[in-house]
Amino acid sequence: MRMSDRLRNKVAITGIGGFVPDHVLSNADLEKIVNTSDDWIVSRTGIRERRILKEKGQGTSYLSVKAINNLFSKNNIDPKTVDAVILATITPDVLVAPTAAYVVSEIGASNAFGFDLGAACSGFLYGLSVATNFVASGRYKRVLLVGADMMSSIVDYTDRATCILFGDGAGAVLLEPSPNEYGIEDEYLRSDGTNRSLLQIKSGGALYPTSLENVKKGWHRIYQDGQAVYKYAVSGMLSATETIMNRNGLDKDELDFLLPHQANKRIIDATANRIGISSDKVLMNIDRYGNTTAATIPLLLHDFERSFKKGSKLIITTFGGGFTWGSTYLTWAYD
Ligand code: UT7
Repeated sequence: MRMSDRLRNKVAITGIGGFVPDHVLSNADLEKIVNTSDDWIVSRTGIRERRILKEKGQGTSYLSVKAINNLFSKNNIDPKTVDAVILATITPDVLVAPTAAYVVSEIGASNAFGFDLGAACSGFLYGLSVATNFVASGRYKRVLLVGADMMSSIVDYTDRATCILFGDGAGAVLLEPSPNEYGIEDEYLRSDGTNRSLLQIKSGGALYPTSLENVKKGWHRIYQDGQAVYKYAVSGMLSATETIMNRNGLDKDELDFLLPHQANKRIIDATANRIGISSDKVLMNIDRYGNTTAATIPLLLHDFERSFKKGSKLIITTFGGGFTWGSTYLTWAYD
């Protein structure tokens, strides 16, 4: 059964905000740090530059607050009317104290509660499921979902295989009861932890608590077996998208936009080609931001908001560490 058939209320995205820091880290800059080239990076990943948060003493909460305040000012939202803030991130400001709790205070959402949600590059998609169901149940009316990551805080800038990929950014969406018949239609979410060692930060958690020894081994930085993850990413996003299209009787020509996680242009192209969707419907901003983990999807929504019309059919698809992956089908609720 499709998700929307089981929901009490139709739920829609009713506003979007986004933020990326000013500082640009270009491929030419990276050529000075590691043994790489603009040619290699562009041809293997599609990335030309990424944004890096340089403001001293600022972290993921800063990115999140900026994105939310952008949403508030665009949509004239009173923070006191927000019921909950869900922050999808793998780079919280600190461990233990949820970053979302700090964000709630910083944006003045004095009637809200907030918590972090960790599902790596699928964090926003999983968060969309939680937020949708919060509103669909009737318990909450206004839920903010933020995808934010300061990847520069966990990247190893001596490892050329990973440091060229990631950037910092944040995007926020507001979920409310739909003003019409459009909104979140269906989702297909999956996880498989058997390959978690292929993409992870090894230390700092319960298995390998932070120690001088672990830090010397670089276990506090992000590690990825790129080639292996690449194959899983294509097959995961492809199978999830095909499942959601079949279940909703959606033909590739009926679909208006595909919003894939921005990890690698080649992964996006391979997935889109196998689906058979024309390239003008496949949204990308990876060239400007790189992989911002939980922020890639809300930043895509933010950058392409003006392309969407009431009733536009969108599929979001993601793949990330865990592994976590999935696809969500939605119809756009406003012009
Ligand atoms: O967001 C979460 C999910 N993550 C993903 O979906 C990422 C999946 N993986 C990828 O996007 C790609 O695997 C990478 C972009 C990480 C790597 O691209 P690749 O085409 O798979 O390259 P590779 O790892 O097979 O490396 C090919 C060669 C190697 O040299 P040798 O062994 O052939 O001599 C690497 O050492 O390229 C070398 N290499 C580089 N050369 C220049 C690796 N990184 C670089 C670099 N510059 N930055």
